Amino acid sequence: MSNINVNVKEVLATVSAQQIEALNPAAAEALEKLHKGTGAGADFLGWVNLPEETTEELVADIEATATRLRDMCDYVVAIGIGGSYLGAKAVIEALADSFSALRADDDRRCRVLFAGQNIGEDYLCELQDFLRDKKFGIIVISKSGTTTEPAIAFRLLKEQLETQIGKEEASKRIVAITDAKRGALRQLATEEGYKTFVIADNVGGRFSVLTPVGLLPIAVAGFSIRELLEGARTMQRATVEPTDANPSLLYATTRNALYRAGKKIEILVNYNPKLHFMAEWWKQLYGESEGKDHKGIFPASVDNSTDLHSMGQWIQDGERIIFETVLSVEKPRHEVAIPTDAANLDGLNYLAGKRVDEVNKMAELGTRIAHVDGGVPNIRITIPALEERYLGELIYFFEKGCGISGYILDVNPFNQPGVEDYKRNMFALLEKPGYEEETAKIKSRL
Ligand code: PA5
Repeated sequence: MSNINVNVKEVLATVSAQQIEALNPAAAEALEKLHKGTGAGADFLGWVNLPEETTEELVADIEATATRLRDMCDYVVAIGIGGSYLGAKAVIEALADSFSALRADDDRRCRVLFAGQNIGEDYLCELQDFLRDKKFGIIVISKSGTTTEPAIAFRLLKEQLETQIGKEEASKRIVAITDAKRGALRQLATEEGYKTFVIADNVGGRFSVLTPVGLLPIAVAGFSIRELLEGARTMQRATVEPTDANPSLLYATTRNALYRAGKKIEILVNYNPKLHFMAEWWKQLYGESEGKDHKGIFPASVDNSTDLHSMGQWIQDGERIIFETVLSVEKPRHEVAIPTDAANLDGLNYLAGKRVDEVNKMAELGTRIAHVDGGVPNIRITIPALEERYLGELIYFFEKGCGISGYILDVNPFNQPGVEDYKRNMFALLEKPGYEEETAKIKSRL
């Protein structure tokens, strides 16, 4: 039994239960394609059985590597972009103390920093500056081993580390996660003698958080990858059958019924700032998987109640092409009660004694009622707490929902032909060898 609950009651003013159920046959077919590998992109279904198939040997190796990095380094920079970055970032942000970067006490300090997820010169310069007098290591992650953003960050930080501690010591503090054979990173790692982990051919970047891609940085940050995998296994078992009790199936059918009813944008809403990057990960997962052939629900996100003061007006009253999927965390990690103030100058004594979370939950409920009344259907996903086990469930729940949904939409959820276009132009503009023809063509347009 999974611990994630999907409630679709508040979409029924827009689509009926029958309209949702009408998609059950397509969802069952999609599920069969995922399990039997008979659909488009079947070469990339390694993630489907990954939680059950992850070996003790791999988990122990990741844990030992994480311990070694933690012993040797005060900071570990995880270099990667897209699927080679967002999963780890999402889990670490969800679990870490909000102020961990500023914590002096070892237990609550998260050592993982990120690079290669942008080409910001200021970001890289400031990171290099910060690391100048620090004991740091690097986890460089790229399935293709050729992606420009992480390659630039790695070249800079590798050179810095070698300058700071020497080439031999540096090579002990660098771990590469990449393809088994292909790509520049694999070649470089072999030549330099780095510890490596393999990203299996049949697991695409955005489905790779439960491989060493996500697991190693998460373990370095001090969180239990065993619990995370245990949660994912729970959800793997809960999403096998094509029934209403399959939460991923219910989510996939409901969002597709809404899409067919003209709701083209799905906003993933959270009421806990720790989930900001979970939404970023989800946007990549669904955006890259479904936005094809001029189809697909546009995945957007807001962090409430913060964004109720910026996007709230649009959601309440803008064009009616949206629906919301609210990620609701039942139990916060800490307890804070609002104190009584004898003078009550701020007029807040009516809240005295209440937990902050009670106020947050009322903001959530009040917003749900207002948005549903305003014509915004609402799917509610409840997760008991921000703990490794439940995050593992949530991740697998969304992955499975994405596979089912993509097949219902009749796209190949496992390729990303669209992301190549910008790269071709960028390489042409940068005059990369091999792009001479494209360079001439693009320059003639400027
Ligand atoms: O989901 C995907 O496939 C992409 O987002 C990739 O993860 C991203 O482009 C990074 O690719 P790579 O790991 O090859 O550097």
